[in-house]
Parts: sequence; structure tokens; C-alpha cells
Amino acid sequence: MKTIFSGIQPSGTITLGNYIGALKQFVEMQNDYNCFFCIVDQHAITVPQDPQTLRKNIRSLAALYLAVGLDPEKATLFIQSEVPAHAQAGWMMQCVSYIGELERMTQFKDKSTGKDAVQASLLTYPPLMAADILLYNTDLVPVGEDQKQHMELTRDLAERFNKKYNDVLTIPEISIPKVGARIMSLQEPTKKMSKSDPNKKANISPLDDIKQIEKKIKSAVTDSEGIVKFDKENKPGISNLLSIYSILGGKTISEIEELYHGKGYGDFKGDLAEVVVNFFKPIQERYYHLLESTELDRILDEGAAKANLVANKTLKKMENAMGLGRKRR
Ligand code: TYM
Repeated sequence: MKTIFSGIQPSGTITLGNYIGALKQFVEMQNDYNCFFCIVDQHAITVPQDPQTLRKNIRSLAALYLAVGLDPEKATLFIQSEVPAHAQAGWMMQCVSYIGELERMTQFKDKSTGKDAVQASLLTYPPLMAADILLYNTDLVPVGEDQKQHMELTRDLAERFNKKYNDVLTIPEISIPKVGARIMSLQEPTKKMSKSDPNKKANISPLDDIKQIEKKIKSAVTDSEGIVKFDKENKPGISNLLSIYSILGGKTISEIEELYHGKGYGDFKGDLAEVVVNFFKPIQERYYHLLESTELDRILDEGAAKANLVANKTLKKMENAMGLGRKRR
């Protein structure tokens, strides 16, 4: 069985983009792969976090992973900071990275431009992400489109490590969903929907209540044409809403276009809100139940134990290859 690794930052409220680009893929793939899914809390602290909020977000994300359908019998779910090998291997990957290539990462540029004090960790974030993936001998990494550049760097770093030391690392492939690899902001549909968007109307969360979902969809930016038609270039707002409708409503884009032929955006948005609410209602019920349960801690403990076993094996191989410490098996 091939191995999958992926991670999500517990850095705010999870969005519909995270669900469609990542979580949905994870659930679909768990039957066919050996899966490791991680709550990457060490990545979250590359920007300032309130400690209490971070703890809350970690637990919330764990409950959400399970509520959307992740089965702990099939997949290993764990918290990054509970597997110390990530930080250790992250350091080694930093030692094979060049500052120039890290400075070229668009996410680094976006998050650092115009800031007076930029944390060093914002620059060294991609080698840690590479370590996350490489520790599990990962074959495939399911992510949204925005992680493509980080994935290319991960492959480069792994190849460089193998060439310089020993062929110990598996070179991973990227898996991006065919539809929904980049869900856009509801307020600025040429920008991706993001957890860190200060405008809360730009995001939908799987945990939003009915009223919030209705309000956000109603106020989503569209165009003045009034025709429900997919045209990413000229109608980015409507095209984004059509993608969301198609993925959560289980209809093709052309079926939806036909359904709203001759109707306005009001009808379309009203029905889309219903589709989104109905989709997330059972997920929310499971989420609130899990959040209060001791089951969640048991699953995370077992996940950390399994992840530590696999990660430590690769870490030892990496240390031996680099000549760190004394030779161990
Ligand atoms: P993060 O936490 O920003 O996002 C988690 C996942 O959600 C996807 N995603 C989207 N997909 C479609 N449309 C969107 N608008 C959208 N926004 C986010 C992301 O592509 C991602 O798959 N660096 C990663 C976390 C990470 C990681 C890893 C991922 C750390 N180590 C190892 C994979 C493997 C990040 O910041 O994701």
C-alpha cells in the first residue's frame, strides 16, 4: 500500500477551501492508502498565536478531521508537536536548504512584505514541511493548489539530500483535486479563500451556523450580468459559487447551469446556501459530540504513538546518513 501524508494548520477557523482542497480528498483516499494526517501546530506558530486559542484550535481541528469522516482505524491522526522527530528532521532539512530558494516562496513573500519584524520561522517553514512529509516515506501528498510550490521544494530538498548523503528519502508526488483545488474568497473572487482573511464575510467555515452561511452567500460578490454560467476569467465570483455548488451538491456544473437557466442570482444563491447548510449539518453534529468526548484524546494518543514509531525510524536513517551522533540502528 502506498503512503499518504498531509497536514493542516490549526491557525484559525477551517474554511470551505480547506475542506474541499484537503479534508475531502483525505476521506476519499483513506481506503486505498496508508495514511498519516497531521495537525501542524509547529507551523501555526510561525506567526504569533495566542496560546489558549491555539490549544482550542488544535482540539477543534482534530474533532473536525474525524467529523468529516476520517476513520482512525484506517488513518493515523496526530499532532505535529507530539512527534519530536518533525522538528529534528526539520533542522536537517534547513541544513540542505538555501536562503535564496526559501526567499523565493510566494507564501513567504506574501506574509513578510511590508512587515518590520519578520520571524525567521516564516522563512524556514518549507524545510519543516518537507521534514513532515519525508519522515513517513510518503508517496503522495494531497493538498490544494496553493501548496504546489512548497511541494516542488520538498522534492528538490529530498533529491539534494539523497544525492549528498545516501538514498534514504522517498521522493513524494503531489495530488491536487480536479475540481476545487483553489476555492476563492467570497468577497474578492480573484484571491484564494484563506483562514487568515480579516474579512470574515470572505470565508465560509464548515462550522458556521445556518444564518452565517445564508448571509455570507447572499453577500458574495458576483457580477451584473445575472446569468448563472461558468466562466472563470470573466465571471470569477459566479464560477467559484458554481464550483462549490457542484462539489457539495453532487451535480455537474452544466446540470446546475441548466437548472438556473433564465433565473437570477437570488434563486441560485438561496439554493446554494441550502446545499451548504445541508451538507455540513451532520458534520457539525458529529463535531460537537467529538469535541466533548474522551475518545478524541485516545485517538490522538494512539496516533502520536504510531507516528513516532515510523518517524523515528526515518530520523535515525537520516542521522546515520549525515553522520550525526553515534551510529545507531
Ligand atoms: P493550510 O493549513 O493553509 O491549508 C490546509 C490545506 O487546505 C488547502 N487549502 C485550499 N484548498 C483549496 N482552496 C483553498 N482556498 C484552500 N486554502 C487552503 C491547502 O492547500 C492545504 O492542503 N503548509 C500547509 C500545511 C502543511 C502541510 C505539511 C501540508 C505543513 N506540513 C505537509 C501537506 C504536507 C498549509 O499551510 O496548509
